[in-house]
Amino acid sequence: MDYLVMVPGPTNVPERVMNAMLTPIINHRSDDFRNLYKTIVSKTKQVFQTENDIILLTASGTGAVEASVINMIRKGDKVVVPVNGEFGNRLADLIDAWGGHAIRVESEFGENPRIEAIEEAFEKNEIKAAYAVYNETSTGTTLRYLEKIGELCSNKGAFFIADAVSILGGDELPVDKWNIDICVTASQKALAAPPGVSPLSISDKAKKYLKSNPPPTQYFNLARYFKYFEENFETPFTPALPLFFAFNEALDIVLEEGLESRIKRHATCADAFYSSLSTIGFEPFAKLDARSNVVIAFNYKDGMDDSKFRTLLSEQFKVLIAGGFGKLKGKVFRIGCMGEVNKYHVMRTVSSITSVTNMMNAKTTDEPLGIAAEKLKAIP
Ligand SMILES: Cc1ncc(COP(=O)(O)O)c(C=O)c1O
Repeated sequence: MDYLVMVPGPTNVPERVMNAMLTPIINHRSDDFRNLYKTIVSKTKQVFQTENDIILLTASGTGAVEASVINMIRKGDKVVVPVNGEFGNRLADLIDAWGGHAIRVESEFGENPRIEAIEEAFEKNEIKAAYAVYNETSTGTTLRYLEKIGELCSNKGAFFIADAVSILGGDELPVDKWNIDICVTASQKALAAPPGVSPLSISDKAKKYLKSNPPPTQYFNLARYFKYFEENFETPFTPALPLFFAFNEALDIVLEEGLESRIKRHATCADAFYSSLSTIGFEPFAKLDARSNVVIAFNYKDGMDDSKFRTLLSEQFKVLIAGGFGKLKGKVFRIGCMGEVNKYHVMRTVSSITSVTNMMNAKTTDEPLGIAAEKLKAIP
């Protein structure tokens, strides 16, 4: 029996998408590839809800986030970064490592920093850009006021860059409406493709900047990707062709379902997870107003061992979920509620978690499955 992959990326990939990887290899300097690339770019624009340009990197999400920093941040640049988890931390460290000065606006993990604190940072400093992790995967929180940061940046003439690696395709993210200059995501999360392709949308303003300030790198020099795309609809370096075929198919699935239905499905499944697992005594890690619909994090009950819990889930039920990391290691478990997530995934995960909880003597008498099933009725 196959694993049910409920970690926060990579996620279960539909067979149609896996099969696309068997497409015979083509020349990446040919019309076959140019047509494929043009098609992928056009579909990616629809999924990002943007008219901005799209670049596809053969890299995981970190590569695309790093590419954005390398291309946009120069020595001494002041950059506002909300930090409420490990990915926000990493981002701020990366900005500092490239000579920028990350102004961290922090909050407790599981909450979002106050928007007023971000506004204050803009008032006190000459800010070049704001960088925000839209969905903090390490804690299961979503920054619900992304649009406000976009507005602020646009009023102050700053760049706005969003790490939407773990959320794009699973929750609201109208890139143009929210004034996002660079939006970064990755194939293996809410878009339900295999890992290895990371798209970025880039506004005219950001494009102008990075073209006139090229970084001293080759692979992540985004101006070079523009040159190749604008001259020939190609990528400067060899793209991972099987992954491009798969990503193209995954985009078709997203567009066939429609973004609105897809986002609703994620929200319904998240609601089913939060309410059903709460009834057996697990407490969501994130505060209510910050709770993510794509990464569901729960605190362990006292005395529950993370490794034993997840090993039992994997060995007895073939269900894979994630633990916490950084300072949440051993304290929380995280469920990826993304991509193809549907009734069957939620029911099997909830039922397996209930059984393992009972096996570990952290038993309660409540019945979560009925609650999950009731919530999931909303999904056609
Ligand atoms: C918010 C966020 N940013 C960046 C990354 C890094 O992505 P990758 O593991 O694809 O390099 C992740 C991965 O989980 C993430 O959740």
